Amino acid sequence: MGVVRPARLERATFWFVAKRSIQLSYGRLTRSVYRIPSHFRNPTAMRLATVRRVPPKWDWSAMHTINLTEKFSLFQEQWRPKVVARLNGQEVKLIKVQGVFPWHTHGTEDEMFLVWRGEFRVEFRDRVVRLGPGEMVVVPAGVEHRTAADEEAEVLCFEPAGVRNTGDIEDAQFTAPQGVAL
Ligand code: NI
Repeated sequence: MGVVRPARLERATFWFVAKRSIQLSYGRLTRSVYRIPSHFRNPTAMRLATVRRVPPKWDWSAMHTINLTEKFSLFQEQWRPKVVARLNGQEVKLIKVQGVFPWHTHGTEDEMFLVWRGEFRVEFRDRVVRLGPGEMVVVPAGVEHRTAADEEAEVLCFEPAGVRNTGDIEDAQFTAPQGVAL
């Protein structure tokens, strides 16, 4: 067969040659164990597989509309984050809040809060950040804080997956289960 230089061949041709060469070398037994990937057998699939960067595993939230008003209508619990999307190791969570949350710190994670409905406060030891709908704040890692709302507010939180909502403290009332998806 001479010297085959795969780099110069179309992939389909390369795999055809490879299959033939394996069959010639090892006989019929190879047919039952040797499989050419479907995207090499199907020219259209092969082109797509070559052009698109297909993630190894898609998240359920990818590539469709996520309506936040609708999502907020699906639960009533307060201080119990609900995950509506995951990306790059981060989670987008929806939280209904009312009252005052305990003081706490997240050792290594920054935390972002965006208000969707109502009035919401993020309190630090030296200041209070007041937020209304469409406003957001980032709480830096290691900075002690607590959140509060006089009337019920709806808030979006963005932070790495696996972050405990009460950070470095455990609270019987406020520490919530992690990774609860809507
Ligand atoms: Ni926090």
